[in-house]
Amino acid sequence: MILTHVVACSENHVIGTQGGLPWDLPEDMKFFRDTTKGHIMIMGRKTFDSFNGRALPHRYHIVITRDPSKHSFPSKESSPVVFVASIEEAVEHAKPLTAKWGDEVFIIGGGEIYKQAMPITDKIYLTLIHREFPGDTYYPQIDQKIFTQTARRDVQEPIPFSFLTFEKKRQ
Ligand SMILES: NC(=O)c1ccc[n+]([C@@H]2O[C@H](COP(=O)([O-])OP(=O)(O)OC[C@H]3O[C@@H](n4cnc5c(N)ncnc54)[C@H](OP(=O)(O)O)[C@@H]3O)[C@@H](O)[C@H]2O)c1
Repeated sequence: MILTHVVACSENHVIGTQGGLPWDLPEDMKFFRDTTKGHIMIMGRKTFDSFNGRALPHRYHIVITRDPSKHSFPSKESSPVVFVASIEEAVEHAKPLTAKWGDEVFIIGGGEIYKQAMPITDKIYLTLIHREFPGDTYYPQIDQKIFTQTARRDVQEPIPFSFLTFEKKRQ
């Protein structure tokens, strides 16, 4: 299993504000949709809440919450939703599903989950938005001793941003 973060982040490390995204970048949303389609996504409960009661079609949702018994969601076969109590449990839940849903499992936020999952992360798709935004949720600093940048594609419209890939260095 490869654990990959997908995240969009400003130059001042902001990823969220008041439970939502601080920007509207359709090309980045398309990248997110294309990348995660058909795969397992692991996320924090607040990020799942930011979907406004909709599961994303053709993705397996694993939602981390301290009290899974408080939560339920009407799953469809094409977009299952399960609640688990920890990141470790999310990874264990994902393991037997990778044959069907793909070996690359995406960690899609938010701030709490990215930070806690960083030590077990293999790869990062970072959309770096070349602006500063106000916000209340942050992405951690990527440790350059552990990750190396392996790809970059720059976009200028509607505002300058870059699709960056980081991969864990072989130790
Ligand atoms: N820019 C991006 O790429 C991006 C991506 C995703 C999200 N976001 C933004 O980020 C914000 C949400 O991030 P967030 O940091 O506030 O919340 P989050 O990481 O999405 O979810 C936090 C919740 O996860 C659960 N949790 C966290 N650690 C846990 C642990 N160790 N064990 C069990 N459960 C745990 C708790 O749920 P319970 O409270 O239910 O116990 C906690 O309240 C929103 O603004 C969203 O739009 C941005």
